[in-house]
Amino acid sequence: MKKIRSFMLVVLSLVVLFSLVACGSSETNSKEGGEGPTADNGIQELTIKISHVVAEHTPKHQGALKMKEVIEKESGGKIKVQIYPNSSLFGDKDEYQNLVADNVQFILPDMMKLVGNDEGFNMESMPFIFEDDAQSIAFWDGEKGKGIFQRLEKDGVLGLTMWPNGGKHITNNVRPIKLPEDLKGLKLRTQGGQLLESMYAELGAGSATIPFGELYTALQQGTVDGQENTLSNIESKKFDEVQKYMTIMNHTRVDYALLTNTKFWNGLNDETKAIVQKGIDEGTIIARDFAKQLNDQALEKIKENGKTEIYVLSEEEIAAFKKALEPVYNEYKEKIGVDIIEDAESR
Ligand code: LMR
Repeated sequence: MKKIRSFMLVVLSLVVLFSLVACGSSETNSKEGGEGPTADNGIQELTIKISHVVAEHTPKHQGALKMKEVIEKESGGKIKVQIYPNSSLFGDKDEYQNLVADNVQFILPDMMKLVGNDEGFNMESMPFIFEDDAQSIAFWDGEKGKGIFQRLEKDGVLGLTMWPNGGKHITNNVRPIKLPEDLKGLKLRTQGGQLLESMYAELGAGSATIPFGELYTALQQGTVDGQENTLSNIESKKFDEVQKYMTIMNHTRVDYALLTNTKFWNGLNDETKAIVQKGIDEGTIIARDFAKQLNDQALEKIKENGKTEIYVLSEEEIAAFKKALEPVYNEYKEKIGVDIIEDAESR
């Protein structure tokens, strides 16, 4: 009897042990976002989604590819990174809300798409405020720039850093743009926000916000006469094929905010966060290094394509645009904050 009881005890212990092991191993299955449990070396098994709206041959996509490479390598494949370019997962209208809902873990919107969340992101459209990527980077890496990013925390969103694309240039199908009055009566697509709307209104032009993913068709079908964008966006989306004129102006910019959500970020343990942060840091270096190079290459390709007539504004013509846009500049200096604008002007 004693023997039978000991035998039963051994069997029972084995059953308990076996079910504990089985339960533990099911917990190491990968999960999306930041809630995946840890694998044995402390790194969480995750699938991270990065969504953006532009083509592959752009600084945003190149930076995202670097993030993927670093995170997957450093995690020994425990973290998988999926990149969705060309609005293939989410477009301009729904990417922010899906970030908040943790349906995607990183997005990189043009800052003009964030002006409804915070007025400070209008900075990128303050006419002629930044001459080049370096000045814009210096502002966004500085205290005032970081302060604007921090204001998104009210939405459960973390602004991690800025990736540049570059200065914008106007394309259109009606006439060459050389002076402010050339814009009279034209209808231009903008990325969104009241500053761009006011800027075109000041120049006698109309404007409409259209998602980037719908822009080629809008230009082709004449829904709008033109748009403003960077050279790598114009070339990689073939806007030059449906626009007769392009003016090199550098009057406003496309710069991106690399955003994640707090639910995902706070769910990462230290080991995992360090790897994701390394991916972000190296992706940022690539995006920042390649932006100008990709825009320069795009200009050469647009010239080779020969579909659009290119005009480069002279110093005098730039001065005429600056003068015409002074009222808008002054209005938004107050709205964004005089201290913030003065910081940007000093870069
Ligand atoms: C646009 O909508 O024109 C750009 O902001 C797209 C982008 O993300 O570069």
